[in-house]
Amino acid sequence: MVNKSLVSITDYSKEDILRILKIAEKFDEKPNRRLLEGKVCATLFFEPSTRTRLSFETAINRLGGRIIGFSDAATTSSSKGETLKDTILMVSNYADIIIMRHHLEGAARYASEVAKVPIINAGDGANQHPTQTMLDLYSIYKTQGTLDNLTITIVGDLKYGRTVHSLIIGMSHFNPRFIFVAPEELSLPETYKQFCDSRGIPYEEHTDFSPDVINQADILYMTRVQRERFTDLMEYEKVKNVYILRKDMIEKTKNNFRILHPLPRVNEIQQDVDDSPKAYYFEQAKNGMFIREAIICEALNIKVD
Ligand code: CP
Repeated sequence: MVNKSLVSITDYSKEDILRILKIAEKFDEKPNRRLLEGKVCATLFFEPSTRTRLSFETAINRLGGRIIGFSDAATTSSSKGETLKDTILMVSNYADIIIMRHHLEGAARYASEVAKVPIINAGDGANQHPTQTMLDLYSIYKTQGTLDNLTITIVGDLKYGRTVHSLIIGMSHFNPRFIFVAPEELSLPETYKQFCDSRGIPYEEHTDFSPDVINQADILYMTRVQRERFTDLMEYEKVKNVYILRKDMIEKTKNNFRILHPLPRVNEIQQDVDDSPKAYYFEQAKNGMFIREAIICEALNIKVD
């Protein structure tokens, strides 16, 4: 592959995904390896982040690389009107790889077309969040021992949830069954249903967060209703508390059942669920560091022994 950017999870084949998960396992065993010595990595976050930026930056530190970048675009010349193209061309002069989050869908693809170095999409609007998907797949693999033939119940904001959109595509290689739970206002866009149909992936859609949709699941993937995606805050107020997971709701789940959430959570998982051995979302976030070490090495053609 000439351009090793990761813009969409479709940039990785099934074989790529499985290979990168194996590399992440190596970093899980031994995170500190000086594989990025002499490299400069740029983290350009035009939109807020805690986990994605800090886990990327931790990954770079653990690999011995140097970091430049920003976590607030208001402190950069984009606030003076500099275009994304000019920003990317400038940073390409300084860094060996660019990790970018942007509020506009398609911004990462555009950046990959103008950049002289690989671009890693750390989330573009409501579109895609492929590195989150890779850590989700790694977390599913670690907890289930397989990615194949699983029932995944996905709950919350399926309309704007970029982690949901990428996860559906990422899991499509592994014969999944999906149960989608969302209010009508936040239901899964047609394009993702057509994607499932075209691949013969079975799915159900529900508006009720019933015991049945929880108890059938191997993985319950909770998501936040994202205030920042709504233009009409009245619409947000109507749906913001629609699904809340309580501890008593997971009593009859399967032994292998695990709860994932890309985080941040607001109130969609009650705090007492955190004590359950079936709550996996904090370990999931930790897995992000290992998978991001693997993704950076993949993009820079660095072999991991
Ligand atoms: N999951 C995720 O993208 O979290 P942050 O917004 O904190 O990076």
